[in-house]
Amino acid sequence: MIDELRAYLAWAEDAGLQILASGTATVKTKLPLLEEVRAEIGECTRCKLHKGRHNIVFGVGNPKARLMFVGEAPGEDEDLQGFPFVGKAGGLLTKMIEAMGLKRDDVYICNTVKCRPPNNRNPEPDELASCEPFLKGQLAAVKPEAIVTLGKFAAQALLRDDTPVSRLRGRWREYEGIPLMPTFHPAYLLRSPGEKAKVWEDLKQVMKKLNQPV
Ligand code: URA
Repeated sequence: MIDELRAYLAWAEDAGLQILASGTATVKTKLPLLEEVRAEIGECTRCKLHKGRHNIVFGVGNPKARLMFVGEAPGEDEDLQGFPFVGKAGGLLTKMIEAMGLKRDDVYICNTVKCRPPNNRNPEPDELASCEPFLKGQLAAVKPEAIVTLGKFAAQALLRDDTPVSRLRGRWREYEGIPLMPTFHPAYLLRSPGEKAKVWEDLKQVMKKLNQPV
């Protein structure tokens, strides 16, 4: 009986089913897969950002990552290539990930909005609202053990807290039970390299949480 139960649980996990309660009644809910979240976006025209985009920048990395980075919005390089954080800020993010003893392929990286705002302006409230279900879908699919938000928009989207990032950063918060560490955006660090030490302190806390050697 125990073996049967184990086999069932292994099958359920592979099938993307989550056992929410068990006993005489077993309640199962299907968690979304990343491909399903991407398919739901389709050739999105839900907000005005679709007008100027070349590519929808969905996300990249390990679909079962223990750690997920959430940035703001694609820039020019990301829009042209279709992948998040491949420009200058992305180069710095890659260095940050490697300094943590990880590779880009180990983590999952995405943005709060999936299309580039014109001239890299800030995403607007209607654009953030249109894209929010997909960010939440990505989080539900990957189920990371920790989230790092990069900059103001990602922190605000997931925490519903408009405290400046300078005050949010460095302290653990939670998104739906998942520990979330707000920190500065790498583009900000390129402009203010003196702040890098603070981000490193934040990332060290994340490494500790994931039992990564610091
Ligand atoms: N900045 C972001 O927030 N995301 C990217 O993908 C690139 C730059």
